[in-house]
Amino acid sequence: MAVLVTGGAGYIGSHTVAEFMAKGEEVIVLDNLQKGHREAVLTETFYQGDIRDTELLERVFINHDIEAVIHFAADSLVGESVQEPLKYYDNNLITAQRLLVCMVKYGVRKIVFSSTAATYGEPENIPIRETDRKEPTNPYGETKLAIETMLRWCEQAYGTQSVALRYFNAAGAHIDGHIGEDHRPESHLIPIILQVAGGQRKDLAIYGDDYPTADGTCIRDYIHVTDLANAHWLALQKLRQTEGSAAYNLGNGEGFSVREVLEKAREITGHSIPMQIAPRRVGDPAILVASSIRAQEELGWKPEFNSLGQIIQSAWNWHKNHPNGFVK
Ligand code: UFG
Repeated sequence: MAVLVTGGAGYIGSHTVAEFMAKGEEVIVLDNLQKGHREAVLTETFYQGDIRDTELLERVFINHDIEAVIHFAADSLVGESVQEPLKYYDNNLITAQRLLVCMVKYGVRKIVFSSTAATYGEPENIPIRETDRKEPTNPYGETKLAIETMLRWCEQAYGTQSVALRYFNAAGAHIDGHIGEDHRPESHLIPIILQVAGGQRKDLAIYGDDYPTADGTCIRDYIHVTDLANAHWLALQKLRQTEGSAAYNLGNGEGFSVREVLEKAREITGHSIPMQIAPRRVGDPAILVASSIRAQEELGWKPEFNSLGQIIQSAWNWHKNHPNGFVK
């Protein structure tokens, strides 16, 4: 039986496809390539198209004996979601609804869903636990939370079993160096810092140095993309072995400030990486750090590349050798 990965050409999706193939899984990818890259997908079984293309989606379910879906396909930029909320309701929520309709129709009952720390909004506790208050402060987090809720109702009505994985800050690149992060435009901290080190940008703009943290810059929990990928495989094992649904935070449980990340990148790249202080970015919480104890206990998840140095080094290996990402 096969596993369908939607959005499998994206950053986390492509690393998850690599992980599943290394585990011997049969993987099918569906991706519209609006953000993803065909070169990032290791499996031959690739469909280019949109989940909202019902005819195509049904063809995928008819052509293959699908056991489970790993659902990444979505838009994921917090700032853009505030500017264009309807795009996020369409690309994220409606897409997930269409996918679930098809899953129910073809009797597929297992789904691993790509959720986010943005479902919590301003955290009430640090580290954040799965049971903490969820009050998203942007449409991106809101649509992801709505999908988690939809999944719970689908479990009750149709027996759909789900695992929602709430990622903190995905970073790094595959340790083999063949795939990595390539967003256009790039908005994430580590790739931007490395583009400065690689001479593609003049400097890093630090968004705010007046937050209530030790050095005034925001603190995040950076987690290696391959460790995230591995959590998806463990989530699928849980769905295979036990009944019921669950949600898990995925982070290393340790926070680093923007200045600390910059310092570590200077050390690894040997580049001075100039920076300037810029105004705060709207919607950035001061501190986001995960408690991933539940994932460790229930999934047996143990991040392997869990130091900031390993994360930045792997990203740097990718950026150095692929300054233009997947574009040759
Ligand atoms: N930052 C800068 N300068 C930059 C880019 C980022 O100072 O040029 C700062 C941000 O203000 C933030 C930190 O670096 O404090 C990390 O920013 P990223 O954009 O790399 O990541 P976010 O924390 O904003 O976003 C991540 C995920 C989202 C998720 C969000 C939850 O990428 O998908 O966490 O808040 F929604």
